[in-house]
Amino acid sequence: MGFSWVNIIALAQFENRKMLYKNPNAPIEKRIADLMKRMTIEEKVGQLNQLNAGTLTGPAAPLGNKAPVMQEIRDGKVGSYLNLEGAAYTLKHQKVAVEESRLGIPLLFAKDVIHGYKTIFPIPLAEACSWDLKAIEQNASVASAEATAAGLHWTFAPMCDISTDPRWGRVMEGAGEDPYLGGLIGAARVRGFQGDLSDGKHLMACVKHFAAYGAVEAGKEYGHVDVSRFALWNKYLPPYKAAIEAGAATIMNSFNVFEGVPSTANVYLNKTILKDKFKFKGFAISDWDTYTEMINHGYAANNQDALAKAINGGGMMEMNSSISIQYLPQLIKEGKVSIKVLDEAVKRILYYKFKLGLFDNSYRYSNEAREKSESLSASNRAIARKAACSSMVLLKNEKELLPLKTNTKVALIGYYAKSKADMFDFWVAKGDYNQAVSMFEGLSAKFPNLKYSEGYSSDATTTDSLINAALEVAKNADVLLVNIGLSGNKAGEDRSLANIKIPLGQQRLLTELRKTGKPIVALVSSGRPMVLTQITGLADAILQCWIPGTETGNALADVLTGAYNPSAKTVMSFPVDEGQIPVYYNYFNTGRPTSADGSGNWFARYRDIPNEALFPFGYGLSYTTFAYSDLKTDKTTFSKSDIVNVNITVKNTGKYDGGEVVQLYIRDLAASYIRPVKELKAFEKVALKVGEEKQVRFALTANDFSFYDMDGNTLLESGDFEIYVGGSSSNVSKFDLKLIK
Ligand code: NOJ
Repeated sequence: MGFSWVNIIALAQFENRKMLYKNPNAPIEKRIADLMKRMTIEEKVGQLNQLNAGTLTGPAAPLGNKAPVMQEIRDGKVGSYLNLEGAAYTLKHQKVAVEESRLGIPLLFAKDVIHGYKTIFPIPLAEACSWDLKAIEQNASVASAEATAAGLHWTFAPMCDISTDPRWGRVMEGAGEDPYLGGLIGAARVRGFQGDLSDGKHLMACVKHFAAYGAVEAGKEYGHVDVSRFALWNKYLPPYKAAIEAGAATIMNSFNVFEGVPSTANVYLNKTILKDKFKFKGFAISDWDTYTEMINHGYAANNQDALAKAINGGGMMEMNSSISIQYLPQLIKEGKVSIKVLDEAVKRILYYKFKLGLFDNSYRYSNEAREKSESLSASNRAIARKAACSSMVLLKNEKELLPLKTNTKVALIGYYAKSKADMFDFWVAKGDYNQAVSMFEGLSAKFPNLKYSEGYSSDATTTDSLINAALEVAKNADVLLVNIGLSGNKAGEDRSLANIKIPLGQQRLLTELRKTGKPIVALVSSGRPMVLTQITGLADAILQCWIPGTETGNALADVLTGAYNPSAKTVMSFPVDEGQIPVYYNYFNTGRPTSADGSGNWFARYRDIPNEALFPFGYGLSYTTFAYSDLKTDKTTFSKSDIVNVNITVKNTGKYDGGEVVQLYIRDLAASYIRPVKELKAFEKVALKVGEEKQVRFALTANDFSFYDMDGNTLLESGDFEIYVGGSSSNVSKFDLKLIK
């Protein structure tokens, strides 16, 4: 008597029921425990192994970059792939993992989805200048929807590194210089990317680079970091903390050291802070090769030593270098790493594989139909266009040159304005610049009389003939729109620059165009605040465009014509000169602060340049004007349980409807640790019609007046505070407040 199909199916179901980890109705913890019992040490170690399988986003592995080896997947030797994407391609590999490996553990597919996947949004630094948390969250969820359709489960964003050094190419990836705003933005991006991770349309976020990578010396990529615990707690940690509290599934160890120990193996960072203080329940991934790079740091003698230090120091998944798979089983046998530590890491990784639904519905992320319909859809592009509009910062607008009427005869000058290859930065995932709208295209569509000239060439140098051609075009124009700055590919990882002035060729071009007497609008393209000192006098208006993404030209046309009235405020101060870096609004007073007008001797200052930034944090103009009045509070003394209500009236006193970011700063006048001259504590973005006024109310709690000691304890001390409210960190009204016990 043979088995019938009914018997076979019944038997399979019985076997499956016994395999608790395959039962979708069982609690995740029980499923993980069941699966862990079945796994060999080698299979557990396989879960820690993340291999690169596509575009190189770091140096090639010692044996060269290789395409995925199916047998390694079958053998359970890979837990995750980086840079392997596309619905069909991910599906092909996931099938092997799920259907052909012994336990059928699915793979995680990861990629740097930094500011969009196919539809490219403005770079995160620019997006942050909108101060619009809802929009920032929405932008991240659009990126998630596109990326998950292409099979991805995980993005390496948001970068929560505070940085005050625009020489560092990666400032483009962060939210600027302020820890409070950085935290709110990091959290908004985590919410947008992740949702609740249950619908197959959201990705795991990764808070990076833990910790203090934004403090690299002299802005040099992969460089040394030396910060105190006081700075760590008060300046660098708050954004990571906020993003983790928003539920980020993963964190990435940074390339740098903290207190002389590489972050990857740093027990203070990974255990004391992350695990014990922040109660982080997700898992950590190294940055590219940071395990093996500990040998170059001079912290590990060889691969085995590096691996033991990394895993014992809190390391979990290893990106690219693949030494766990080679040496970890042996290290465990030798007792150099305990099985408990390995199990803890594997459990955390498996948790997210269950949470994403990968055991029950393994192929839902690789969705070719959705990949086709959602990628670069009209609605995604519309959202990206709005994001680009709200990220452009108007730095100067003499005699109300902007906005322009569409019948204005404009000359558009600048090689980058027409060169699509120069539009995008390095971190554009699968964005294709051919599908983006250049400045030239966007502006030509709105200004029928537009004439174009290159003015400089691809490397930003110029020649007499390029200048003469630009002057020729300028002759018949009413207004000259001159696109200056850097090619997009000068922004991002491995793009540190010592010279961040506007290139000399472009300066010369502007100087010659200035002689025509025609009004000039400088359109600055860059992934960082550049030194604009040399060109501020050469342009009547300056619009900091950053790198706006797929909808560049359309958004620029919206802004220049006034269809969108600029409302962005810079989140990073613009230095007067490279020698002034770092320059930031929330500095400490020192024992020798300068006098208000900068005169006198023996003060903390430069003899050749001012102390103040050219354009400080929080600064940005609108086509309209706003008046602030009636700053008041419901108390002048308060205790720890009180809420202090601060009210201010803001009125649109100009000719256009517009939006204003109302900012509130505090200063703690005397404390057990010195406090910055100003700290952002609240803000609200208000929309005001012409002539309209609104009362903005901020409710401050004791928490807003607290800070950290060097062990991360929160301190709230009685004493005097100043409160400032205004439209920029440098243009504020003030009143005094006292905290009593
Ligand atoms: C190195 C970068 O530092 C990190 O941010 C990125 O996520 C990885 N490479 C992967 O591309």
